[in-house]
Amino acid sequence: MSYNKMPSITAETINPKVRMFTYEPCGEIVRHARLLEQEIYDNPGSLPFQEIIYCNLGNPQALGQQPINFFREVLSLCDNPPLIYRDEARALFSACALKRANRILESLPAKDSGSYTSSQGVRSLRQVVADGIAARDGFPSRAEDIFLTDGASSAINMMMQILIRSPEDSILCPLPEYPLYSGSIILHGGTMVPYYLTEDNGWGLEIFEVKRCLEDARASGLTVRAMVVINPGNPTGQVLSMTSQEEIVEFCRKEGLVILADEVYQDNVYTENKKFNSFKKVARSLGYDQEDLSVVSFHSVSMGYYGECGRRGGYMEICGFGSEVIDEIYKLSSLTICPNIAGQILISLIMDPPKLGDESFETFMTEKEETYSSLLKSAKTLQKAFSSLEGVSCNKFEGAMYLFPRLRLPPLAIRAAELEGVSPDVFYAHRLLGATGIAVVPGSGFHPVSGTSHIRCTILPGEEKIAAMVPRLRAFHEAFMEEFRG
Ligand SMILES: Cc1ncc(COP(=O)(O)O)c(C=O)c1O
Repeated sequence: MSYNKMPSITAETINPKVRMFTYEPCGEIVRHARLLEQEIYDNPGSLPFQEIIYCNLGNPQALGQQPINFFREVLSLCDNPPLIYRDEARALFSACALKRANRILESLPAKDSGSYTSSQGVRSLRQVVADGIAARDGFPSRAEDIFLTDGASSAINMMMQILIRSPEDSILCPLPEYPLYSGSIILHGGTMVPYYLTEDNGWGLEIFEVKRCLEDARASGLTVRAMVVINPGNPTGQVLSMTSQEEIVEFCRKEGLVILADEVYQDNVYTENKKFNSFKKVARSLGYDQEDLSVVSFHSVSMGYYGECGRRGGYMEICGFGSEVIDEIYKLSSLTICPNIAGQILISLIMDPPKLGDESFETFMTEKEETYSSLLKSAKTLQKAFSSLEGVSCNKFEGAMYLFPRLRLPPLAIRAAELEGVSPDVFYAHRLLGATGIAVVPGSGFHPVSGTSHIRCTILPGEEKIAAMVPRLRAFHEAFMEEFRG
């Protein structure tokens, strides 16, 4: 019997949309880093460094951020219900962790963490999230508007599935962007309409620029359905001013656009004169209700002082969609049956952490503040280091977890990059990695204004690591500039 020995599925025959997008934070730079890591393992001492410092991804705990003890206590108890009733548990776990775990278990199917739940997430956990949102914003929130999700990424993908019907359907997205957006829009067959953030204005958002992009898109026959706003921003680290947020709300209401508010860095704000305001709160403060404007807010367990990104937890709060649409979103979420339970529990804990008077409160606050101050110190040191380098200017660190310094490289370096067939930022990032073991993401992966070069460096906690990193960075940069000065 003869049969075709060629694989029927090749890179050429898969869905071409999958090949069209890139996701640089986990792309070439990581492949390069893994090769170097293998080299360190196979031939110790063969490279000028002993470890790779992964500043490519916002992966807080992998970079040394400590988990919050209360969250971990509750998670372990929920995974081991019999522990709650053992005498030793009183010595090992705080009373409020025992109480919280007991309350959560009571609401889970079969009082255990191993079953499927409602596709929207456990009702009582959604209620806790809604209450947390209401307490944060000062405006009501309803459990029926909350979908618990496997991280913000799955919620964002779900919204793209809901909103994109054809290639004409398009979504306004900030550039530089977090590449999940371009990837997801391509995958779902829509069109991304970029609007540029202004680097010279602290990566602020100019509403006239967004309006110009919307008008151009409409003139070319596109149907713009939504506007993505990432606040605090990734990769740009800015926190939007209240004026800017109000302008966005007014604009989206007038133009009939859904606001897709990516608020995963809401607990990463480091500037004293700005604070996080959810878009829903801004809309309600301006007097707009469900009927006036649709806002979807995404949050996650991944970042902030909790940094539990491996748990894959999050929520989206959907305001201003009719109940028939909510039913369809429910159906869509039921394709993956339910979000994972640890993630559901964790997002409820983040939205309702220990309060003043709870036994765990002081420890919780100490842990939280230690993480903040460590990240802030690191950010300041790194920002100062980048700004002091020849040909480099660095954005002010206001929020999120990244610095996005701009590189002005000598013409000879740009020429050398051209000869290698890569952009100058890619050339620089790989050289930096090869010489120091520091993995940063070439800025072109976030699609900034063409002709500019940046790198994105994740802030890692821990003074010792930063102290070791800065001289390496400086020595590399000086040697690089010297080599290509001409
Ligand atoms: C702006 C932004 N949105 C969404 C996500 C995805 O978060 P999650 O881990 O919850 O899927 C990230 C992760 O880095 C992010 O930076």
